[in-house]
Amino acid sequence: MLHQAHNRFNAQELWQQDHDHVLHPYTHFDSFRANGSLVLVEGEGCYVTDAQGRRYFDGIGGMWCVNAGYGRKEIAEAMAEQALQLCYTTTFVDVTNAPAARLAAKLAGLAPGDLNHVAYATSGSCAVDTAIRLAHYYQSRRGAPARRYVISRKNSYHGSTYLGMTVGLRDGDQSEHFKYIPDLVHHLSAPYPYRRPDGMSLEAFSDALVEEFAQKIAALGPENIACFIAEPAQASGGVCMPPPNYLPRMRELCTRHGILFIADEIVTAFGRLGHMFASEDEFGIVPDIIVCAKGLTSGYIPLSAVIYSDAIHEIISAPDPDAWFTHGYTYAGHPVACAVALKNIEIIEREDLCGNAARVGGYLERRLAELSDLAIVGDVRGRRLMMCVEYVRDKATRARFPDSVNISKRISRACEANGLLVRPIGHLDVLSPPLTMTMADVDFVVDTLKAAIVAVTAELQSEGAF
Ligand SMILES: Cc1ncc(COP(=O)(O)O)c(C=O)c1O
Repeated sequence: MLHQAHNRFNAQELWQQDHDHVLHPYTHFDSFRANGSLVLVEGEGCYVTDAQGRRYFDGIGGMWCVNAGYGRKEIAEAMAEQALQLCYTTTFVDVTNAPAARLAAKLAGLAPGDLNHVAYATSGSCAVDTAIRLAHYYQSRRGAPARRYVISRKNSYHGSTYLGMTVGLRDGDQSEHFKYIPDLVHHLSAPYPYRRPDGMSLEAFSDALVEEFAQKIAALGPENIACFIAEPAQASGGVCMPPPNYLPRMRELCTRHGILFIADEIVTAFGRLGHMFASEDEFGIVPDIIVCAKGLTSGYIPLSAVIYSDAIHEIISAPDPDAWFTHGYTYAGHPVACAVALKNIEIIEREDLCGNAARVGGYLERRLAELSDLAIVGDVRGRRLMMCVEYVRDKATRARFPDSVNISKRISRACEANGLLVRPIGHLDVLSPPLTMTMADVDFVVDTLKAAIVAVTAELQSEGAF
């Protein structure tokens, strides 16, 4: 459907400027050279419009982040008001501003357990860096400076800084052309239930993963391990929900061995799974540290937060005239970003967007399950508004299509032609829509995705690729 936006934008010029001058995150140079970018210029509710005036339902929610939906006047006003009142203060050493102080108190009230302290950062990746530096600092201040190893899981994603890329290990991420930090991070198997060994029950899979962690701790020596970092529900590494009892048992091993548990809730916090934070309310664990970003501001402005426990704070702030926490960012606790976060959280609470995510997400789960019968759909999984479809060439063996087929991108392109954006990642198409999605939106999304899968399957059959 064409929309008025295209009158105000020169679509070709924007495409060309981007093509000639922007290095995109995760560029595949050969396809970018040929196709360039989809230029988006407007957003309203769950919809975005491109420079040519085509309107799409944004099944990606920006990038798992536009939780409150596009075009919120209240958020824009909060932003403008704060920018006029006080556009910036540092929060270094002993200066602060009103929104940073208020937001920290609000986050302390929302976070589980005794997670009552906040270190601000500007992106998910920076928050992950901060959390790991905080873990090292804490371990050292409590008299265990040898504890420096970080335990993480394969196929996880924790950001794109030097440290984030070393910690995460998604299939295909570790390009031989980049460098990584050696001898710091140790990876466990991914909790990827669909690809567990043939014939293994979910319970046995969970046992095996926990046992692997126990053995890793024994092999490295707990006295050398600072922290374990995990997305409670692995997001871009497969939209994997943890197997039964896995997280509480991993938490228990961490507690027993003095290893800090860092929950990367950059995707799951602020409503996507129907709760402000998923760690305790969805998965029954209280971590030592939670990192969040994305839904914290619904993507209106960059901001992230590391929320950590009283127990950590007591150690790191213990009297010592020489102790400085030498870490932080110029824009940590930025007043405009914190004002946006406060307004965004107010909206999520006032409109009960967590409740809507639970209700509409439940319907999305049920309707998407219908796709399981399609010939190339190996698995439909996820929870609430964090879902994906995994494609396979052979359902019995779970064999994937060759990468050259680019299956998820082909299907996402077919969706795009019919007004729906879904996110292709490897052999998956991922859905993480705004939390304002309605039941009618669910029907549109599932019907459009289904039609795209059916059409691409027919094309593959006629090409002899399936
Ligand atoms: C689970 C998780 N952690 C960390 C990050 C990194 O966040 P950012 O891209 O804001 O640096 C992401 C981004 O998608 C993520 O999904």
